[in-house]
Amino acid sequence: MPVKELQSLEKDPLTQIVKLSQCSPNFSRVSKKAYIESYGCQMNFADSEIVASILLKEGYTITEDFDKASLILLNTCSIREKAEQTVRKRLEYFNSKKNQKSNMTVGVLGCMAERLKHKFLEEEKIVDLVVGPDAYKDIPNLLKEVANANEAVNVLLSKHETYGDISPVRLNSNGVSAFVSITRGCDNMCTFCVVPFTRGRERSRDPKSILNEIVDLVSKGYKEITLLGQNVDSYLWYGGGLKKDFDKASELQKRTALRFENLLDLVAKSHPKVRIRFSTSNPQDMSVNVLRVMAKYNNICKYIHLPVQSGSNAILKKMNRQHSREEYFQLINNIRTIIPDCGISHDMIVGFPSETDQDHQDTLELMDFVKYDFGFMFAYSERPGTLAARKIEDDVPESLKKRRLIEIIEKQKVHSGYRTKKFIGKTVCVLIEKSSKRSENHWSGRTTQNTVAVFPKKNYQVGDFVDVKITSCTSATLIGNAIQLSNSI
Ligand code: SAH
Ligand code: F3S
Repeated sequence: MPVKELQSLEKDPLTQIVKLSQCSPNFSRVSKKAYIESYGCQMNFADSEIVASILLKEGYTITEDFDKASLILLNTCSIREKAEQTVRKRLEYFNSKKNQKSNMTVGVLGCMAERLKHKFLEEEKIVDLVVGPDAYKDIPNLLKEVANANEAVNVLLSKHETYGDISPVRLNSNGVSAFVSITRGCDNMCTFCVVPFTRGRERSRDPKSILNEIVDLVSKGYKEITLLGQNVDSYLWYGGGLKKDFDKASELQKRTALRFENLLDLVAKSHPKVRIRFSTSNPQDMSVNVLRVMAKYNNICKYIHLPVQSGSNAILKKMNRQHSREEYFQLINNIRTIIPDCGISHDMIVGFPSETDQDHQDTLELMDFVKYDFGFMFAYSERPGTLAARKIEDDVPESLKKRRLIEIIEKQKVHSGYRTKKFIGKTVCVLIEKSSKRSENHWSGRTTQNTVAVFPKKNYQVGDFVDVKITSCTSATLIGNAIQLSNSI
């Protein structure tokens, strides 16, 4: 199926598909070609760049055209059932291709590999290779197993693996924005979420390797770095080891430990002409210290993705979220006080088991209080193995989930419009990323608040910071005119 068609089938932002473009012309005479498709969160896209780096060392080139590839890898997402269904359809498609082409290897990477493990080989028989998120360095060995017709599965989760020693190969890149992973895994055990099972325990990456990767990106002309993790605010470096083992660290390690605010400060100070973003923040971990560092540096973007999941205390408790609605309001108030112009977005789930009309009203009310700039909204999808799946009946009818989802999406549209309208008449700094989807004559970029802005190209280039006077807007996009190159990034 052409990629465009697949994109239009899948509207969920977390299961968007992106093809990875070709890279490394140095290897153009080598015949082994690999094709990688990534689904799900930004971390998966960043991981695919690590996989590409490992494959390049094995003599592969990465191709955009799967018909030319002898190795097809799908980096998959398990977050909702729909995400898995999309991947299954795609795997079936590649499997049919494999039947026509005998020398083709199909592999599944990422969260579905971790969740389903050997099942892919035993029951489904649609892939040759199954590799979990912490086992990508084993891909070269696993490919040898495939060549010898042996089982090729590695789904071991690691306490240490952060891929800190691998320089990711930037794929599908605009040369302007890049992701840098700083933590892996999650210890939070939200009852609806499969991530702790598929990505393992939380561990932080050595700050030296983070800073080195950023220096390398900056030397190559990148202008915006997004620090990535399931829970960036709980970043904690005390010389290696799991977050949960910090209590056992020595006194010296505890005293010299580096927390997220320290890392953010270091990165922002080292690269004053580069924009710094981060994602995702868990409300329970976001500290006032982080907000102060954000306020201190002009180059740290004034934007926080702050998933709340529900506005009801009863539901938050059943979700095992570690904060109340009131504590979330307090955090929002702190953000508005310390960073008055901060953009805030959310993730929200409707139809969690037992959610009543009153719980849903609480969610709508919370949205009214915050008036988010934008958000990602989902109907609850039961994931096998999670605590919610084992202990709580999925008792909200699908039709009601759908109705509640439409209601929160409609509300978000109104709030997004409220936020974008506030920019009309103002001049904002935009980093140019690409041509606008609607018009080749317009650039598209984002403001510090992460709002998309489009404007006529004039003589500006991708990678320029420009001051744009906003003249009109839709609920999601600012429209304006570039005035000059910007000094305030
Ligand atoms: N902390 C992570 C969250 C990953 S999951 C991060 O890096 O963003 C992304 C979002 O998917 C969650 O915030 C939640 O809103 C949604 N989600 C997770 N599990 C879900 C489920 N079982 N059903 C519906 N939505 C879910
Ligand atoms: Fe999932 Fe909750 Fe962690 S949403 S990724 S278990 S913070």
